Amino acid sequence: MNSITKPVATCAIAHPNIALVKYWGKARVEGNIPAVPSLSITLDQLCSETRITLGPPGPDVVMLNGGVAPASFARRVSAFLDLVRQRAGDRRSVHVATSNNFPTAAGLASSASGFAALALAANDAFDLGLDDGQLSALARQGSGSAARSLFGGFVEMAGPQLESPHAKPILPAEAWPLSVVVAVTSRAAKTHLSTEGMNLTRQTSPFYEAWIESHTADMDAARAAVNARDFGALAQLSEHSCLKMHGLMLSARPGLVYWNPATVACINAVRTLREEGRHVFFTIDAGPQVKAVCEPGDAHSVRDALAGVPGVVETLCVGLGGDARIVD
Ligand code: PMV
Repeated sequence: MNSITKPVATCAIAHPNIALVKYWGKARVEGNIPAVPSLSITLDQLCSETRITLGPPGPDVVMLNGGVAPASFARRVSAFLDLVRQRAGDRRSVHVATSNNFPTAAGLASSASGFAALALAANDAFDLGLDDGQLSALARQGSGSAARSLFGGFVEMAGPQLESPHAKPILPAEAWPLSVVVAVTSRAAKTHLSTEGMNLTRQTSPFYEAWIESHTADMDAARAAVNARDFGALAQLSEHSCLKMHGLMLSARPGLVYWNPATVACINAVRTLREEGRHVFFTIDAGPQVKAVCEPGDAHSVRDALAGVPGVVETLCVGLGGDARIVD
């Protein structure tokens, strides 16, 4: 180890991503291996900024949004840093200061952007020298969806057929510039963490095998729709994958209900907009927020319609974003 020439402080930013073909379920908890592949878009403007500073061996310090991070989050970050230290053969502690410019842990993918930024910063500070695929596989061990947030545009994440699954970009943002209107229906942090929810679903849902078996066909169709820039096909497929995932969640025991009344009202509003000729579809993750993906020309109407839905507390309108990057 040559600590004199190594950077001791590094800052990285990464954008959240939203899956259009969803990931839910782990093939193996050890190593955080997803049970299914997934396909996502990376968002612009929303971001996690993560600054890490290396110190002498000892406990890590984790700050989140300007305050001391909750103990459960700090433990998760330290467990991730243990993997980095093991790989680097370097016992130094890390001071982590991470912040999000959007609601944290509320189904807006803050763990995806946060762990992608942390993986990138750690690769730099600990001089790991990982290539893109290795970096994405490392980020996966912090959060499955973080593997996708290393890359901009349209991104595909592998399933358990790879020994150490990682994501890869399939189409840059500028090749098909879509807009995303996020309807925030609650600012509260979510009640069930995704890992617990995924384990419960695998153990108790009678629909779990059907979810796994029908996934390859969804991925193939979504990839074809992206390659052909076929909005209608991608819309149909994405809503199907989203509703299938929520049907799966609802069928766990006890059932996982991530929606509130405004979530359902937003789904109906998006369907009405589509009947009126707008190019728009919805997707929803493990939280009550609705993301409406649309053609840029329809973004104003979609935002106005969703802002008027009772229970929507805020709307954000973003485009598709780029790769995670070091910013210092
Ligand atoms: O990366 P995790 O463990 O937070 O899981 C993400 C799961 C969903 O957001 C619901 C779906 C997805 O593919 O992002």
